[in-house]
Amino acid sequence: MEKVVSGIRPTGNLHLGNYFGAVRSFVKMQDEYNCMFFIADWHSLTTHPKPENIQSSARTILAEYLACGIDPEKAPIYVQSDVRETIELYLYLNMNMYLGELERVTTFKEKARQQPDNVNAGLLTYPTLMAADILQHRANKVPVGKDQEQNMEMARKCARRFNNIYGVEFFPEPENFYFADKAVKIPGLDGSGKMGKSTGNCIYLRDDDKTIRKKVMRAVTDNGPEAMNSPRPEVIENLFTFLKIVSAPDVYSYFDEKWNDCTLRYGDLKKQIAEDLCALVAPIRERIEEYSANTELLDRIAARGAEVARASAAATVDEVRRIIGFRR
Ligand code: TYM
Repeated sequence: MEKVVSGIRPTGNLHLGNYFGAVRSFVKMQDEYNCMFFIADWHSLTTHPKPENIQSSARTILAEYLACGIDPEKAPIYVQSDVRETIELYLYLNMNMYLGELERVTTFKEKARQQPDNVNAGLLTYPTLMAADILQHRANKVPVGKDQEQNMEMARKCARRFNNIYGVEFFPEPENFYFADKAVKIPGLDGSGKMGKSTGNCIYLRDDDKTIRKKVMRAVTDNGPEAMNSPRPEVIENLFTFLKIVSAPDVYSYFDEKWNDCTLRYGDLKKQIAEDLCALVAPIRERIEEYSANTELLDRIAARGAEVARASAAATVDEVRRIIGFRR
């Protein structure tokens, strides 16, 4: 069966970008593939070198994974730092990655701009660690949002290069997986591009109904459609992106027609989005509360996940040592 792996950094609660870009694919894939999902706590050190409480942050994501519907019986969940084998593979892969290509990665350039006093080597080799996360399980598919496309390109490059250098067909080239076959980018509702933790424009799975309504109603708009059937400006298209993803197709068509014949009232559109979002998030939020209270269960799930992930990674690293020529 094809293997699947993916992860999320524990730098805050899960938001709708994480949910629509990644986690709902995790839930969908667990029935069809051999899946493992993890919490990328090492990666968070690239931007948060002194994390407040890294273990409870990891538990938070774990509780949220479960609340979204990941079943650890089908798809083990583990914490990245519990699998030390990853680091050995990271080292070997780094030997084949070049400074120039790592420096050209857009997220590296962005982060270097955002934290000029901390342009660390971990940030530079972020894609290699991500490749190690994936290749250690020799995974075939990786569910991610649109912003991870370039990192995925690098992971394939790592796999290809290793195979070429050592003349083997060892690592499969991992493919991106998208929920509805198309890369998803959930926009921010403040008109600033994508929803993301560092931009402070997130709607979280933990938000209550009132907060969700407030955030949606505050979304940036313009003066309204000026001509029949005109293209939508970006901030309005962002609202329609939400509508498409959370509301029924006939509801989308209804508002689309209203836009086209210039009778759309943004207040109505926002209300619709807010209500549909509340209906989606409320049961998840309730389950998050339940799981978060059960630390013992969370720790047991993570320990079991670590065992499975370690065995899988150890087998790969063992083989990699043999291929390169080290003692096993
Ligand atoms: P991270 O923690 O930034 O985000 C986790 C996942 O959520 C998706 N995502 C979005 N998708 C659509 N619209 C958005 N606004 C949005 N915001 C976030 C991301 O695309 C991602 O899928 N490098 C990864 C973590 C990672 C990883 C891996 C992923 C480490 N190793 C191995 C896959 C495989 C990251 O920073 O994701």
